[in-house]
Amino acid sequence: MDKKEVTVLAIESSCDETAAAVVVNGRQVLSNIISSQIDIHKLYGGVVPEIASRKHIEKINQVIEEALGESGRTLDDMDAVCVTYGPGLVGALLVGVGTAKALSYAAELPLVGVHHIEGHIAANYIANPDLEPPFLCLVASGGHSHLVIVKDYGEYEILGRTRDDAAGEAFDKVARAIGLGYPGGPKIDKLSAEGNPEAIEFPRASIEGAPYDFSFSGVKSAVLNYMNGCRMKGIRYSEADIAASFQKAVVDVLVSHTMLAAQDHGIAKIAIAGGVACNSGLRSEMKSACEQQGYSFYMPTPLLCTDNAAMIGAAGYYEYQKGVRHGLDLNAVPNLRLGERGI
Ligand code: KG4
Ligand code: ZN
Repeated sequence: MDKKEVTVLAIESSCDETAAAVVVNGRQVLSNIISSQIDIHKLYGGVVPEIASRKHIEKINQVIEEALGESGRTLDDMDAVCVTYGPGLVGALLVGVGTAKALSYAAELPLVGVHHIEGHIAANYIANPDLEPPFLCLVASGGHSHLVIVKDYGEYEILGRTRDDAAGEAFDKVARAIGLGYPGGPKIDKLSAEGNPEAIEFPRASIEGAPYDFSFSGVKSAVLNYMNGCRMKGIRYSEADIAASFQKAVVDVLVSHTMLAAQDHGIAKIAIAGGVACNSGLRSEMKSACEQQGYSFYMPTPLLCTDNAAMIGAAGYYEYQKGVRHGLDLNAVPNLRLGERGI
């Protein structure tokens, strides 16, 4: 094997996917195994933390074995074990962290703790081998909505954040209100295709003095008010029109804030990341806005947008190269921060 190759085993368990991957040099994915718990959590309308931890414990060894098996490599071929240690659900994170520590100790491999959002951003390195910092990244997931300048590998400046709900959270809450179930994002995305995005004018919030910050609780309330208003007046409403108009309102805000930040900071490379980056409306609107401005646009494949371990292997590789090593005292940090203003 080429000595310059760095191969890592990566583990992700911060929410409701148990995932393991083998990644070479941060960009080449040899395996990416994801065991999703969605079918269990959807019975409850959202992630139940205690159930998530238990399911991670049941699945993690099998998922790691599969990841190694599919990669054609053994634990002895690894150069490091990378693991998400925050932010996320503490009990869920602890399963991954504990397992990574055990493997690192048993196989005498360096341990590299990885920030979950850093992983989401790094998914772009896998999908786009030519992408290098600096670039601007919109991170929109179930727990986060941030505009981040990726100054260098592992170096971030956070320009904007959500003041209330994350974008994915708004999708999930509106989906529940329409009766679509959990997780809402993919369901709203699908239903939107049958609706008219111009049918209902939902608000596009901007915050005075903080042009890159987001607020999605207003649009969520506007959807609920619209539905209540229709019910009270005995008017039938179209779920598809609500979905399409809501999605358009959220996408408009995500795209316009990103474009403004890019212009203000003179950045001509834009990437998107996180579960909401699967959204077909966001992918196409951001792409055409970038084309109009002459910016380069990057996005991971949908599988790499939602939680997975390959993205942790990509981010972990750059941490490893910088010399980051964690001890066996590594702990789960549910509110782990990233960058100067912190995510
Ligand atoms: O990144 P992720 O898998 O987990 C977190 O770190 O939070 O993101 C999950 C979120 C959920 O809120 C889900 O509804 C949303 O991403 N999502 C979508 C789509 N696919 C997933 N939102 C909008 N459109 C989609 N197609
Ligand atoms: Zn995530």
